[in-house]
Amino acid sequence: MKETAWKSPSNIALIKYWGKYDVQIPANPSISFTLREAATTTRLRYAEGTGKISVFLDGQNTPSFLPKIESFLERTKDFFPFAGEMDFEIHTSNSFPHSSGIASSASGMSALALCMMSVKKDLGLPIDNFFEEASNAARLGSGSGSRSLFGPLAAWGEHAEIEGSSNEYAVAFSDVDPIFKSFQDTILLVDKGEKTVSSTVGHGLMNGHPYAATRFEQAHENQSALLTAMLEGDLETFGAIVESEALTLHGMMMTSMPYFILMKPNTLEVLNKIWAYREETGHPVYFTLDAGANVHVLYPESHKDVIMSFIESELRTFCKDGSYLCDEVGNGPTQL
Ligand code: PMV
Repeated sequence: MKETAWKSPSNIALIKYWGKYDVQIPANPSISFTLREAATTTRLRYAEGTGKISVFLDGQNTPSFLPKIESFLERTKDFFPFAGEMDFEIHTSNSFPHSSGIASSASGMSALALCMMSVKKDLGLPIDNFFEEASNAARLGSGSGSRSLFGPLAAWGEHAEIEGSSNEYAVAFSDVDPIFKSFQDTILLVDKGEKTVSSTVGHGLMNGHPYAATRFEQAHENQSALLTAMLEGDLETFGAIVESEALTLHGMMMTSMPYFILMKPNTLEVLNKIWAYREETGHPVYFTLDAGANVHVLYPESHKDVIMSFIESELRTFCKDGSYLCDEVGNGPTQL
């Protein structure tokens, strides 16, 4: 068997993608920080064959991953028409604990898409733009995964002010003040459980949501304002938009039918502590949230020491087993 391997990172959205139509077309544009530490490493072994697939997570045969991989290969067959005539052995591992509540779909699907692109290249099939095509394929496995292909930031979904932006793939974005290229993201593991609401169900809640149209419009406006703030290095406006986006994402879930509260009491404790600390010290520390209870604490590298001692002394107590992950903005995938 031949082998190809990629390490691909996770990402954290600043403007949130929430709602989709057709096959993974986003209802609004989104933009994210690409992370450095949280990543999936995938080694794909391949040979001519009959479409047999086996998957190993941390060296353990994990057949429960097969349905996702099969549906990814089905959806991406225009990109990888050779998949049915090959056998694949997929060896994958995540840099973050499986039980951390950090979604591995963005990093996992982007790593797999990159491996498949490398196979395509090896077979001598035509490729226009390797990373654009990888992003397009990753999108079909995990919408947010389309953004993991590029750093320091990536934008997915058509947006008037991002040249070349597309609903089908993400584009690299770096038109920001340097302060944002080394931003820190400390991920507080408030709750390590499995997701209460799957992404598929979550996005589905936006169909027929009473506030959907306004929300999609707001995402365009927030993205415009965020781009300006980031270009100008305006931390205060950056923080206000990013925090509002996080709460809006949760607000959409609370006001859908059925409705969900994905924050935990400790999530709110953390948010209140961050607001109080910011008010008191004036330090630029902000939060964002995923579709879950964990809190991403965002701040410039220049404030790393002071914010880490704040996290240790005031926030850590709200984390499950006191655990958090230290991450920062990264530059995207690497071939191994
Ligand atoms: O890529 P999905 O389908 O798992 O959706 C991700 C949705 C959010 O993480 C909540 C927001 C985002 O833009 O990443």
